[in-house]
Amino acid sequence: MTKPRILAAFAMTLIIPVAAMAAPQFFNIIDGSPLNFDDAMEEGRDTEAVKHFLETGENVYNEDPEILPEAEELYAGMCSGCHGHYAEGKIGPGLNDAYWTYPGNETDVGLFSTLYGGATGQMGPMWGSLTLDEMLRTMAWVRHLYTGDPKDASWLTDEQKAGFTPFQPKSSGEDQS
Ligand code: HEC
Repeated sequence: MTKPRILAAFAMTLIIPVAAMAAPQFFNIIDGSPLNFDDAMEEGRDTEAVKHFLETGENVYNEDPEILPEAEELYAGMCSGCHGHYAEGKIGPGLNDAYWTYPGNETDVGLFSTLYGGATGQMGPMWGSLTLDEMLRTMAWVRHLYTGDPKDASWLTDEQKAGFTPFQPKSSGEDQS
């Protein structure tokens, strides 16, 4: 009588690791059409970080402080005009808190999909302007700018939440006082 249960348990041990390893799927955040990255720039599409991300959905640059200066520059050149220097929001929404118009952006797979495929209006697709590798670096900067409670940052693992220091924009009072 216990046999089916044992078999089921055995099957689960086989199925779960396979499911956990499945490569993430990417969809346009507005119309849900699949993104396959055929249009991505030649350059920067085969880096270790990109390969790892497309296989696992994990952005290794989130854990790599060395890329932050370059990531900051990419963000300043490509995003800050619309989203604000500290991603506090301007003509585009703030990107430094836990509220997202598109909840998919709570994950790095979703954020990558928004950058690659764009959203509505002024938020055009970035596939012609940034390499896939640069998108991952820019994303690491956006995550770095997060000012909220790490507990609400669902893109962080529990371990990352424990170690995350919310970004503190330089207070404008600094120069004046
Ligand atoms: C020309 C202005 C402009 C530029 C440049 C721009 N954005 Fe946007 N972005 C917008 C606007 C406007 C929206 C709102 C679109 C919508 O709601 O569909 C938006 C939406 C977004 C969203 C969705 C936010 C949410 O709450 O779900 C993300 C993420 C985002 N932008 C990231 C970026 C990043 C990163 C860059 C730089 C690589 C960038 N954007 C460049 C104007 C811009």
